Amino acid sequence: MERNARITLLARMNSQRQKASLAALATPHGRYGIDGGWNAVAQLVGVAAAALLLLFLAFRNLRSGPMLLFLPELLGGLALLQVPLNFFYSTLRGKFVVWAELLEGLSLRGDERVLELGCGRGAILAMLGKLLPEGRAVGIDLWRTEDQSGNSLESARANLEAEGVADRCELHTGDMRTLPFPDASFDLVVSSLAIHNIPEAKGRKQALEEAVRVLKPGGRLLIADLFRTEEYVAWLREANMAGVIRRPFDWRFWYGVLRVTPRLVTAEKPKDGQGSMVPQN
Ligand SMILES: C[S@@+](CC[C@H](N)C(=O)[O-])C[C@H]1O[C@@H](n2cnc3c(N)ncnc32)[C@H](O)[C@@H]1O
Repeated sequence: MERNARITLLARMNSQRQKASLAALATPHGRYGIDGGWNAVAQLVGVAAAALLLLFLAFRNLRSGPMLLFLPELLGGLALLQVPLNFFYSTLRGKFVVWAELLEGLSLRGDERVLELGCGRGAILAMLGKLLPEGRAVGIDLWRTEDQSGNSLESARANLEAEGVADRCELHTGDMRTLPFPDASFDLVVSSLAIHNIPEAKGRKQALEEAVRVLKPGGRLLIADLFRTEEYVAWLREANMAGVIRRPFDWRFWYGVLRVTPRLVTAEKPKDGQGSMVPQN
């Protein structure tokens, strides 16, 4: 085979292998519940009912009513209907695909210690476990069912077993504002849809302070969250974290809010050991 043809074939095989491993990582084998809990489901059912009513009115007007109302009713109905559809897609599928891509993109060696703040039933923690054959994926949570349906230590443990990664993962019951881990003990800290659940700014800032504290110099931080991510950027910069970036997600992680708020915030703790919100003397 000609050299160029062989290179093309190898590149294609490589990309197919990468796609297959990404798809495997993004395919859950456990049961991960609904983000926002049953309260969110109840609200979304209300939104879906309002959307269907508007669409019904639009089509009734199209046939026999005032045409003036048709377009606003149609557009209003479609805008409302995308909220539950996109929310359920994001929570049941999009979150897994987006996080699989994010974690693959980190090119982990496989022996790192990684912490997830607010791991819930373990969707992201289990993926981390799969990427860390020689490492450790540690999750901490308060298991609040109002933030994720069916949330509990037992459900997280059962999922880690179902994914075949229980031996590489650790679960801790605790508050991310006061982490029970030593300084500089993790190579990577991640958090998905969790920090915004802390109601006061002071508490959210404490959670970030703790994330920075437990990161090793050179360690990386990845936060995906729905609201208030601009504060995270300001606090992380204040804490001398390097390369603080905030970017939007695509439609797979919009949770129905039409790209208004969900954002990814990434940062790195400088190798010189700086990166603390506690004033340095
Ligand atoms: C929407 S769930 C997301 C769970 C998981 N990260 C995921 O993406 O599937 C938010 C999680 O944050 C947890 N949580 C909320 N406040 C917390 C706190 N102060 N400390 C630890 N966990 C917290 C909740 O118990 C819940 O499991």
